[in-house]
Amino acid sequence: MKKILILGAGGQIGSELVPHLRAIYGNNNVVAADISAEKCKVLAEAGPFEELNALDGEAYSAIVKKYNIDTIFNMVALLSATGEKNPKLAWDINIGALLNSLYIAKDNNCAVFTPSSIGAFGNDTPKNNTPQDTLQRSNTTIYGVCKVTGELLSDYYHHRFGIDTRSVRFPGLISYVTMPGGGTTDYAVEIYYDAIRKGAFTCNIDKGTYMDMMYMPDALNAVVQLMEADPSKLKHRNSFNIAAMSFDPEQIAAEVCKHIPDFKMEYSVDKVKQAIANSWPNNMDDTCAREEWGWNPQYNLKSMTEDMLDKVKKQFDAGLI
Ligand code: SER
Repeated sequence: MKKILILGAGGQIGSELVPHLRAIYGNNNVVAADISAEKCKVLAEAGPFEELNALDGEAYSAIVKKYNIDTIFNMVALLSATGEKNPKLAWDINIGALLNSLYIAKDNNCAVFTPSSIGAFGNDTPKNNTPQDTLQRSNTTIYGVCKVTGELLSDYYHHRFGIDTRSVRFPGLISYVTMPGGGTTDYAVEIYYDAIRKGAFTCNIDKGTYMDMMYMPDALNAVVQLMEADPSKLKHRNSFNIAAMSFDPEQIAAEVCKHIPDFKMEYSVDKVKQAIANSWPNNMDDTCAREEWGWNPQYNLKSMTEDMLDKVKKQFDAGLI
């Protein structure tokens, strides 16, 4: 990776992936692109930025040529709950951006990273220790349908055209820089903000619902580690299960209580999100990622909670939230 383009730079992952990659590869070698320049002021001040609608193939292609890009990070997506409000829009954006990335990668000999998700699994997938290669035919969301399609398309472009496509199935990602929007796992971010702001949280996912989760620093390391991995060691490509921790709302609340003893949580379950959460794995088996490229997460629920509460409290004290 020498000249990198990140699409969707203003999103939850992109806003942290851009500075992470700039610190490793140099500010001028990492181009941030997003449909909204407004959302990306900080990124645009620190290095190259392009306002781009990823569905505009001509403009997209011109940027890849302008900077001589060799690696594309396609981080454009509507998340699971938002997707259910407008499935056509979700398909058009999620698959449209990916197809443009693959077409342009083929024409310009670029590697492509595209995130997949726990959402690539559905009701007939084994819930516990979800295998790397397993049933993905009972998806209940358009988001998940797009993720499975994306995995297949990315593998196809690798086999058919030799494009270096790689991907991970991210768990719910927890971070304090940019809020996720419209995801089923968002409660695990919101709980920390409400704990600091109000000492209380209303959870829209029911107790006893387990999902894989991951702290953003581990997610960023995963992306770099996978993209730098020796291709001859990769038996899989699109997409690797990666796991760090699995918990239900009661467990994250109990962890918050260790720092804020008066913290109170009640439930008001969102039926759409709950049905989605029920269809996803409780915990994935990430043995292939560990064996093929050395995946090894650093954060668990305890260490993540300490860091999240510390960082969110600092934002609160500074009047930023
Ligand atoms: N965090 C995503 C969502 O909840 C899943 O990948 O939609």
